[in-house]
Amino acid sequence: MLKGIILAGGHGKRLYPITKVMSKQLLPIYNKPMIYYPLSTLMLSGIRDILIISTPKDINNYELLLGDGSDLGIKISYKIQDKPNGLAEAFIIGEKFIGNDDVCLVLGDNIFYGKDLPKILKSASNELVENNESIIFGYNVKDPERYGVVSFDSKLEVKSIDEKPSKPKSNIAVVGLYFFKNDVINFAKQCIPSSRGELEITHIHNQYLDQKRLNIKILDSIFWLDTGTHDALAEASSFIKTVESREGKRVSCLEEIAYKYKYIDKNKLEKIISKSLDDDALYLKQLIS
Ligand code: DAU
Repeated sequence: MLKGIILAGGHGKRLYPITKVMSKQLLPIYNKPMIYYPLSTLMLSGIRDILIISTPKDINNYELLLGDGSDLGIKISYKIQDKPNGLAEAFIIGEKFIGNDDVCLVLGDNIFYGKDLPKILKSASNELVENNESIIFGYNVKDPERYGVVSFDSKLEVKSIDEKPSKPKSNIAVVGLYFFKNDVINFAKQCIPSSRGELEITHIHNQYLDQKRLNIKILDSIFWLDTGTHDALAEASSFIKTVESREGKRVSCLEEIAYKYKYIDKNKLEKIISKSLDDDALYLKQLIS
């Protein structure tokens, strides 16, 4: 089985003052809290056992919002990260939760959208369980220095993954969605804090790369939306609004995914509809009919 982790902590300092008292991943992206999008990514990957990690101050709000997940036919548990010690700490905090399984980590501020997304996620989940390789995704960006970046050698083989390099060796950024084999826990434990004091996820990538067990897939048929700056936040909201109003559908509608993926049945969806507001109820009713 495959477990899922959403990392939803951090200081959110780049978005001050809006994140001074409010957790970044609870900010609205158009009509829903940001965390709905990465949660939908895990659900579309077929993952139903999910751990949300956040700060001591914010964890209760996530629990209030999403509960134990039973409304969506999934199981959600919660853990605290005392300080933003780095992304790799997720696997140390989540060690017991992961147990002997493989694990998918999605960053709570990463939004993915596209027709091919369910297919890409499902096949990554299957490949991860069947093979002994971990899987990460690259995406072509104009500002690679803001991300983990894939560096290639002269034969176009992947040489290393560099965290926020001042002189990026390519435009391929590593997105915040990682499918790892179970031994990621050991790699995370071996991490030492980088010069910026964090347990870096890129350290883990490079460990797998050294063992020739890192599969890097390029995402070119879907959108990866940024939420790291005020402009990016506003653009993500307007992107979702445009897609929803143009196509008449909802992006990352959790109840829709739960129903279509048979995590909940028609009865349960009808109960949700009876408690929903007019707009949502109408949309969800159309699914059943
Ligand atoms: O978005 C993709 C990028 O995410 C990757 O390309 C980079 O390799 C990876 O390091 C990461 O870079 P960011 O600069 O975006 O990381 P940031 O510190 O902003 O953290 C990403 C999310 O994880 C953010 O929502 C806060 C949360 N977080 C971060 C840290 C360091 C935690 O919950 N705990 C932490 O300790």
